[in-house]
Amino acid sequence: MLKGKTVLLGVTGSIAAYKTASLASMLVKQHADVHVLMTRNATNFINPITFETLTGNKCLIDTFDRNFEFKVSHVSVASAADVFMVAPASADVIAKLANGIADDMLTTTALACEAPLILAPAMNTHMLLKQVTLDNIKKLEGYGAEVIAPASGYLACGDTGAGKMPEPETLLQYIYKAILREKDLAGKKVLVTAGPTQEAIDPVRFVTNHSSGKMGYALAREASFRGADVVLVSGKTSLTPPLFTKFIPVVSAKDMYDAVMEEFPDTDIVLKAAAVADYRPMHVAEDKIKKNSASSVLEMERTDDILAELGKQKRDGQFLCGFSMETKDMLEHSREKLEKKNLDMICANNLKEQGAGFETDTNHISVLTREETISLPLVSKEEAARQILDLVVDRIS
Ligand code: CTP
Repeated sequence: MLKGKTVLLGVTGSIAAYKTASLASMLVKQHADVHVLMTRNATNFINPITFETLTGNKCLIDTFDRNFEFKVSHVSVASAADVFMVAPASADVIAKLANGIADDMLTTTALACEAPLILAPAMNTHMLLKQVTLDNIKKLEGYGAEVIAPASGYLACGDTGAGKMPEPETLLQYIYKAILREKDLAGKKVLVTAGPTQEAIDPVRFVTNHSSGKMGYALAREASFRGADVVLVSGKTSLTPPLFTKFIPVVSAKDMYDAVMEEFPDTDIVLKAAAVADYRPMHVAEDKIKKNSASSVLEMERTDDILAELGKQKRDGQFLCGFSMETKDMLEHSREKLEKKNLDMICANNLKEQGAGFETDTNHISVLTREETISLPLVSKEEAARQILDLVVDRIS
């Protein structure tokens, strides 16, 4: 995913430095060109050879190292960078960066670098919560740096509290957000629904479907990488809510209906990927329920069609994309839904096809608009999300 991108990793003197080795490895696996810059103190926590082995690039530590090909290193890596992440960022380096102090390889490079700066502070809770550190962080944010809130927990110094560096997977998501995509959805509010809804039969049992939520979560993540303000309304899934989204968990179709209607008025784009249960069990009077007979309680009524309601309320400039899961006559049925529900786009797939549908990691989607039918290849749900949003962006601009 990061082919052709240059990532600078600044590593400072904090025990969390060991986690940055995993991050460097993840970035290399995504084909990024990774250059690590360490402070002298950082080398007490982790050996530069670890990073050199992982990245294939010399670790930059001392500005006046004589053993290098002749280039002004801090300037040449700074100008090649697509992003500069300092992780872990110690209180000392945060203070230097906030005040323009450049007295080693890491801080001189940061000062020379025009690329987005991301900091992952990691330190003792008392150091983090000291007013001077908070002021320095605020100052850096004011200069445009992204500061990742430290996690809370047991710290290596023995204290418990805020100050832990987030896991490498989280740091990677911040790098993706900074450089993976053009910000072609900046300023747009995107509302995504995902996952299954559950309709209670009684306090113990419920009716639901096989939706995993993967497609909707991939769409939410992709929209956030493109700079959108994303709201993700999700039924219960086993997935971790994506970063950079406002996450609204729901259970029933009614909960989803209410959450979506509340968010809809100032929304620009709706991607309705949830598999809403079409029917819910009706409430049946206790005396009518025959013991041990499911059929007596499973009288069903239709749930409100959320997408159709959005189609009715839609005003100029709002873009509605639905999803349609079919087992036969996929294109005809999907086109009917597009017309009937007043949609701008519908993404259809055939549940009977291998590699498409609910619980797979891939999808084979046909995208229908009023004018055309576009068949996307069989790709991962992440790639499908990218291609769907490319089509949406072309049609809103
Ligand atoms: N949908 C919805 N609210 C419902 C049912 C469906 O918003 N109560 C949305 C789905 O999220 C999806 C689209 O409508 O984006 C199509 O859903 P689907 O179940 O494929 O079609 P239906 O219109 O419900 O028709 P049918 O079940 O007869 O195929």
